[in-house]
Amino acid sequence: MSRPPITGATMVAGVAGAPVRHSLSPLIHNAWLEAAGIDGIYVPFGPPADGFDRFVMGLRGGAVRGINVTLPFKEQALACATSVTARAREAAAANLLIFQSNGTILADNTDGLGLLAAFAVQAPGFDAAAGPIAILGAGGAARGAAAALLGAGCPEVRIVNRTLAKAEALAGALEGQVVAFGLPAAAEAFADVAAVINATSAGLDGKGQLEAPLEATPGTAVIMDMVYKPLVTPFLHWAQALGRRTVDGLAMLIGQAAPSFEAFYGEAPPQGAHVRALALKALEP
Ligand SMILES: NC(=O)c1ccc[n+]([C@@H]2O[C@H](COP(=O)([O-])OP(=O)(O)OC[C@H]3O[C@@H](n4cnc5c(N)ncnc54)[C@H](OP(=O)(O)O)[C@@H]3O)[C@@H](O)[C@H]2O)c1
Repeated sequence: MSRPPITGATMVAGVAGAPVRHSLSPLIHNAWLEAAGIDGIYVPFGPPADGFDRFVMGLRGGAVRGINVTLPFKEQALACATSVTARAREAAAANLLIFQSNGTILADNTDGLGLLAAFAVQAPGFDAAAGPIAILGAGGAARGAAAALLGAGCPEVRIVNRTLAKAEALAGALEGQVVAFGLPAAAEAFADVAAVINATSAGLDGKGQLEAPLEATPGTAVIMDMVYKPLVTPFLHWAQALGRRTVDGLAMLIGQAAPSFEAFYGEAPPQGAHVRALALKALEP
């Protein structure tokens, strides 16, 4: 099956990032569009690093339904919106902008939903309320994850970061039970956790190994890595060698794409489009 011809009725959405060339989002969304027979298209946009606001102003008005936003524009996306969902406000970043026909821009963040969906798919039965969860990293991804986990009933989030001051600042900015740790205290933070999530950029493209004492986690802990290139990072390799259940970053990427798709095209993605298999093929070296 191939997509219908592009006409004036075709619904257009996309993803903006810098760089955007290697984004898997066009592959995922266009596969869903094709499988569902929806007259829509999803395109990558690469605005200049200093021109995100101008780019967004050119899109507003509804000719383009909306865009996903990736690095380095997630904070700017939040700032340029006319209205903001609670979850985007809590994450202090937007990965989704919806352009309404009256010129307004709604900012949302589906990364937290993607994180929870990834656990549901790859660690069935996992309950965020079951115990403390440690998050490695104190950047935007860690903040969004912490907010989503607290919202899902996690009793305590532990932010473990190389730069302790950033972990403390993040703990102070979030509402709920959030405790900051430096990396040297990671074993203490891991002792009784339900899960550990790597939200640092260490391990991306095989660079910057992350030293984290996963052996200090209980045998029941689920270990998740947001990095998905490589799919099985050294962090996940180690977790698997210890016999822990693991969740990968590709499941999160697909999980955050699903609610975005629904916001753009008005229906949930179809079952059976095999987007994970397509993405895995695209990730092959
Ligand atoms: N799978 C998905 O759908 C998804 C969604 C969102 C993000 N992500 C991924 O999540 C990662 C983090 O994104 P971000 O936007 O939060 O990045 P960011 O704001 O740049 O934060 C990076 C964090 O990583 C830490 N870090 C970097 N290298 C390290 C190393 N070698 N050892 C220990 N800590 C290190 C930094 O610590 P310092 O504070 O000490 O510098 C900082 O806390 C990225 O790889 C991104 O691709 C994946």
